[in-house]
Amino acid sequence: MTSANYDVNIYRYNPEVDSKPRVENYSIDPKKIKGIMLLDLLEAIKSQDPSLAYRRSCAHGVCGSDGLNINGKNSLACLTKLKDLPKKITIRPLPGMPVVRDLIIDMDRFYKQYESIKPFLQAKEKPLQEGEYLQSPEERDKLNGLYECILCACCSTACPSFWWNPDKFVGPAGLLWACRFIVDSRDMSTEERLKDLQGLWRLYRCHNIMNCTNVCPKGLNPNKAIHTIQEQISKDSNSHN
Ligand code: SF4
Ligand code: F3S
Repeated sequence: MTSANYDVNIYRYNPEVDSKPRVENYSIDPKKIKGIMLLDLLEAIKSQDPSLAYRRSCAHGVCGSDGLNINGKNSLACLTKLKDLPKKITIRPLPGMPVVRDLIIDMDRFYKQYESIKPFLQAKEKPLQEGEYLQSPEERDKLNGLYECILCACCSTACPSFWWNPDKFVGPAGLLWACRFIVDSRDMSTEERLKDLQGLWRLYRCHNIMNCTNVCPKGLNPNKAIHTIQEQISKDSNSHN
């Protein structure tokens, strides 16, 4: 029995050559695909047309480099099974970001917001002989659902609030990371972190649109993290009244 070819439309744009973006169509024989994931289909296309540009690295959902918009939904090519897709597939770059070339976006504004939440543990130095900062199993459990983020940007680039205000709104990925440090019992900058997120823009531009949580390929819930921070801010301000 012969199986139908994949009919794949891919966004193409090389600013050095093209005056505007276009869509290129590829017909791919399933027998030419050396794997079961969408990334394997992209590799088959790349061997047919080496000019196609996209990011990839680990191919196992760990590095977060192959985030794409696949039939209208952001996800990782390496975690998207071909058997779950129709034979007609449309692949675009992650939305709302400048395109460097083809499926490669400029991640600067995403990383700037991530950097802005100071994504590192801030503990006071203590003499070495006093040992490490210990955590109880319960304290450690609070990091579950937060530390697993691989910064693929699927969530932030699915969020309309981030599309509209990428320079002011931290976005779901950055806020999930902010939450990861706010709830960490070893971090000693909780108050500063909460203060930094107050005001109209950095945190409260989230309008609970939920695209972030719906697309996260690691099954994380940035919206829940945003609510955790908001609750913490209101507890904090009540305790100061
Ligand atoms: Fe990617 Fe999920 Fe992290 Fe967002 S929260 S950057 S979708 S892993
Ligand atoms: Fe955006 Fe997610 Fe909030 S999609 S508006 S950050 S719930």
